[in-house]
Amino acid sequence: MSGDGLVLRAEDATLGYGGRTVVEGLGLDVAAGEILVVLGPSGCGKSTLLRAFAGLLPAVSGRVLADGEPVTGTSADRALMFQDDALLPWRTARRNVELALALRGVPRGERRAAAVRWLDRVGLGDAAGRLPRELSGGMRQRVQLARTLAAGPRAILMDEPFGALDAQTRASMQRLLLDVLADAPATVVFVTHDVDEALLLGHRVVVLGAAGVAAEFPAPASRDEVLAALGARTKEVV
Ligand SMILES: Nc1ncnc2c1ncn2[C@@H]1O[C@H](COP(=O)(O)OP(=O)(O)OP(=O)(O)O)[C@@H](O)[C@H]1O
Ligand SMILES: [Mg+2]
Repeated sequence: MSGDGLVLRAEDATLGYGGRTVVEGLGLDVAAGEILVVLGPSGCGKSTLLRAFAGLLPAVSGRVLADGEPVTGTSADRALMFQDDALLPWRTARRNVELALALRGVPRGERRAAAVRWLDRVGLGDAAGRLPRELSGGMRQRVQLARTLAAGPRAILMDEPFGALDAQTRASMQRLLLDVLADAPATVVFVTHDVDEALLLGHRVVVLGAAGVAAEFPAPASRDEVLAALGARTKEVV
């Protein structure tokens, strides 16, 4: 389907906005097909890191690479699933997913059925004709997931993708993600605040801090170890 995952690399990368540094001197390698989970307190730069890998934010210094090539802009190879809902408000759920299929070069006549199949997989087949404003936050997240996966990217950058879902739907979306990756290997950088989710999905878990990676756990790590690195006592407070 989409071949192997991209190798992502941040090389002594300093990231920030308008002269304000968020992360300094970050070194991070993500192997092809790896699921890397990123944890860290609010404001530590997790979304910033995803934006840099997506090509939306150039590094202030150092380098950000995909398959050894400097990342200079966005690419269909690297899909970013935003923390805030990024669906086009004037397009129905189905037509939002069709857009991803179009970018991937799926012929026009096949897009509609393929989009509905993806929406079925996220449990939204019946909502295909609804506009984003007619969907709940969790439903919009699932449309975004369908759209992201439909694009068949080689790297998937996911920013708290399941944060608005109830426990049962979240579990089924986690399973869907793993199933899709089994068919179409991709490299995943997955940001979450949920340590259990991190341990469930991650091949490796890192804790991000202002000076780069503050702690790193090759899975399966123990939940207590990860919580200790975060300085947290409960799983959702990071
Ligand atoms: N577009 C922007 N312009 C200026 N500063 C920004 C911008 N986006 C984020 N920041 C700042 O950069 C820092 C890191 O933000 P970022 O969104 O990467 O954090 P985060 O780790 O994703 O947090 P959260 O867990 O709350 O999503 C914050 O201090 C934030 O205020
Ligand atoms: Mg964020």
